[in-house]
Amino acid sequence: MSDAVKVGFVPLSTAPKGVLVVFCDDSLKLGQATRKALGEAAGTVKRAAAANQFKGKSGSILDMLAPEGIKIQRLIVIGAGKGTGLKETDFLKFGGLIAGKLNSASDQVTVMAELPEDAMTSAQAASIASGLRMRAYKFTRYKTKKKDGEDSTLRAEVSIAVPEPNAARKAFAPEAHIVDGVIIARELVNEPPNVLYPEEFARRASQLKKLGVDVDVLDVKAMTKLGMGALLGVAQGSVHPGRTVIMRWNGGKRGDQPVAFVGKGVTFDTGGISIKGAANMEEMKGDMGGAACVVGLMHALAARKAKVNAVGAIGLVENMPDGNAQRPGDIVTSMSGQTIEIINTDAEGRLVLADVLWYVAKKFKPKFMVDLATLTGAIMVSLSTEHAGMFSNNDELAERLSKAGEETGETVWRMPLGAAYDKLIDSQFADMKNTGGRYGGSITAAQFLQRFVDGTPWAHLDVPSETMIAPKTDINHSWGSGYGVRLLERLVAEHYEARK
Ligand code: BES
Ligand code: MN
Ligand code: ZN
Repeated sequence: MSDAVKVGFVPLSTAPKGVLVVFCDDSLKLGQATRKALGEAAGTVKRAAAANQFKGKSGSILDMLAPEGIKIQRLIVIGAGKGTGLKETDFLKFGGLIAGKLNSASDQVTVMAELPEDAMTSAQAASIASGLRMRAYKFTRYKTKKKDGEDSTLRAEVSIAVPEPNAARKAFAPEAHIVDGVIIARELVNEPPNVLYPEEFARRASQLKKLGVDVDVLDVKAMTKLGMGALLGVAQGSVHPGRTVIMRWNGGKRGDQPVAFVGKGVTFDTGGISIKGAANMEEMKGDMGGAACVVGLMHALAARKAKVNAVGAIGLVENMPDGNAQRPGDIVTSMSGQTIEIINTDAEGRLVLADVLWYVAKKFKPKFMVDLATLTGAIMVSLSTEHAGMFSNNDELAERLSKAGEETGETVWRMPLGAAYDKLIDSQFADMKNTGGRYGGSITAAQFLQRFVDGTPWAHLDVPSETMIAPKTDINHSWGSGYGVRLLERLVAEHYEARK
């Protein structure tokens, strides 16, 4: 990872240089070490606050030229509201706010990790560091020119001042690997579809081998042998052959049942013969956001040497219309043996997942499977961009995901499944059809997937507007967000990892 922003930890007593970032509460109170660092300059803060109507509201910012009497250039005061009861997501946000204030002139930055009443914990300081790095990420690979007034790349060295730098470093070490995983996922989503097609995606996923992940790439021949007719039916319309990639991280006990993650990896979705309209079609380069998340997650687990056995499986295809593309009316046979009548070739994600879910369920008999997919536009109609749609056949898994979502800020909202919905995808010619009609489009899509999990505890996350096209947040200004990496890493860490 070639980050332009480097983050480290120093003792609270270190003399600040360059840009100094401090926190205050909504009575403008500063912490003890902060007051000491500011010395007489602390008085100027009060005057600047009054002049700017800065009241220390949580997340508000007072940005000022450094007052006389202190050897820094610029002082940034961040409001922490009441200063108590702050959550992990608040500290991530603080980190993001800091990164958002940096410019190419901010080469040295010191952040006093102190609230008015107390120093921040190591975990809180680590969250600031994570938020900072996530916000600082920019996808600039294909920019050859810089417009006037556009900031050149950040090159800041950020020192977070804490009571125990070693403890903070230790807390941040695994977090840094998770942030790397988020950035890997974002990179994959942001890449253009002429560069990132199934084989290239598989090649990038194979780089996980360097971390000790076993990576198997199934080519068309191997998938044909397995009978993956649903996935192959989608892939056949493209000059780029499809791939399935299986990644295995064995950090747990030998023979311990793995946890499994499955991702939709449509590197471009034109809709196929049921072609989409031209408006915004370029966004369909992000139709592999689920697969990108699985790669980022496997990176995070392997890099931090998680004590768990985990399988990541991604189905990679390009959904194109050409002379060999599948037609509405075609009937394909999935690996499970179940037949599927194609009604709409644009409902391709479920076809890809059908075979990969079945393969994973049968081959690995995992404790559970979670799939992530940019599956339906309908889920955005239901939930907007605020929550991912979650469907599950297992209450415990669903609850754990909801909780991990609240903690990480990558929230999910459970949606219903049921026999009445399932009936809507019965077909007059085959075992099922690949669309269910106008109503409940994300639910019938989930019902379709459920027919391929073979009773395995399973959750499906429908994440179109979470992994891409998401609105900018304090910790993400990139089009591809890397959604899901932190959510699923947390699920594993909290419930499925042997305690250290
Ligand atoms: N990849 C799309 C879903 C999507 C739409 C993601 C918009 C992000 C933004 C998926 O393959 C798709 O086309 N779904 C169809 C299903 C329909 C044909 C039953 C949809 O949602 O319209
Ligand atoms: Mn589609
Ligand atoms: Zn799609």
